[in-house]
Amino acid sequence: MRVAMIGTGYVGLVSGACFSEFGTDVICVDKDVEKINRLEDGIMPIYEPGLDVLVENNVKAGRLTFTTDLKEGVKGADAVFIAVGTPTRRGDGHADLSYVYAAAEEIADAMEGFTVIVTKSTVPVGTGREVERIIRARRPDADFAVVSNPEFLREGSAIGDFMRPDRVVIGTSDERAREVMSDLYRPLYLIETPIVFTTRETSEMIKYAANTFLAAKITFINEIADLCEKVGADVHDVARGIGLDGRIGKKFLHPGPGYGGSCFPKDTLALVRTAQEHGSPLRIIETVVDVNAKRKKAMADRVIAACGGSVEGKTIGILGLAFKPNTDDMRDAPSLDIVPALIAAGAKIKAFDPEAMAEAKKLLDGIEYCDGAYDALEGADAMVVLTEWNEFRGMDLGRVKNALVNPIVVDLRNVYDPTEMAESGFSYSCVGRANIGG
Ligand code: UDX
Repeated sequence: MRVAMIGTGYVGLVSGACFSEFGTDVICVDKDVEKINRLEDGIMPIYEPGLDVLVENNVKAGRLTFTTDLKEGVKGADAVFIAVGTPTRRGDGHADLSYVYAAAEEIADAMEGFTVIVTKSTVPVGTGREVERIIRARRPDADFAVVSNPEFLREGSAIGDFMRPDRVVIGTSDERAREVMSDLYRPLYLIETPIVFTTRETSEMIKYAANTFLAAKITFINEIADLCEKVGADVHDVARGIGLDGRIGKKFLHPGPGYGGSCFPKDTLALVRTAQEHGSPLRIIETVVDVNAKRKKAMADRVIAACGGSVEGKTIGILGLAFKPNTDDMRDAPSLDIVPALIAAGAKIKAFDPEAMAEAKKLLDGIEYCDGAYDALEGADAMVVLTEWNEFRGMDLGRVKNALVNPIVVDLRNVYDPTEMAESGFSYSCVGRANIGG
């Protein structure tokens, strides 16, 4: 079995490395020469726990190789995965499929023998059909099938999510393609992973429905958190109290500054547009998109309020810039809305993130990037937690207090215990729980 993985972004690189770990020969293809050179030298383009070792081991074992030559990669492959980017198209919120379609054309020119072409990128319903049409138009006699096999991995725990998924979804009506896909995922049969075989359109829809549902779940608890603050309830107990109901489930009920990242913002928007075009609007998801965007913007106001109504001339120490911990990804991170809003309100920003500083520097100007968490707090009028990295959970509160000019802590990820913070003399505010101290 030989697999070609087109695109070495998050999904492509992790999936390629994991398939090779399963014992399959994998060749990863990317147009970016520098990226491929670096990968060959064992340098990862992203920060993802465990990925470097996985790549190194499988390269050594001869199962994982890299190339910039798509023809070389696709020639003789049993399965070709399209894992290129599908960013939001400027102007209309639709997914931009130009990279997917360009890959399809190149694959058409290079494939030999029966080839299964798999869309792994998140693509709108109907993309598989269009990929098939493009390939058929270029190679009328070719023997191939186009399959949808969406990826559900989370950044920061991507390898575990790939190796031990809740389920695998495979969309195809072609018997031979089904066999190739079953062979590829054979190791997961051993751990009894449910495999959902369905049609291509249904599979494409499952991915969007999953992500928009999760985005809605987060947005729901965020709004409940706001109400909890008003009525004096504790959102953590509410989340536990409802989450223990098996019909609701405990996960994705953690309140915060709004969801970000490479998937939820993009996919909610894309599904909203698709639904509108089909005259079947998803009003719940339209509202989710709107509420989440406003929430991120409103977070700066919380910080300003915690600082006594103004941050003019004040220094704010920001802990965490990435959209979530264990990643260096800054895409749609709440920090991208909150930091500029604080600067616009007259604040000076000092910031630290364990992994995302290089990415942040490309996107956030006019702030002082610090070498460590305590450095970011030195001389600051308030500390603001934007990402729940573990190292921020274990901060020495005495040191924090000494570093700050005023003992003000705004915890937008609820990593501290409100009672302990109050007892330690902080004016502490968080999300959806009683705000104590001051
Ligand atoms: C997500 C999906 O989980 C994954 O299945 C899909 O394939 C890609 O998108 P990812 O974007 O890596 O993965 O991160 P995830 O852990 O899902 O978090 C997304 C955002 O939601 C983050 O900004 C996170 O901080 C936020 N979030 C998540 C919350 O605010 N509360 C929660 O309870 C969970």
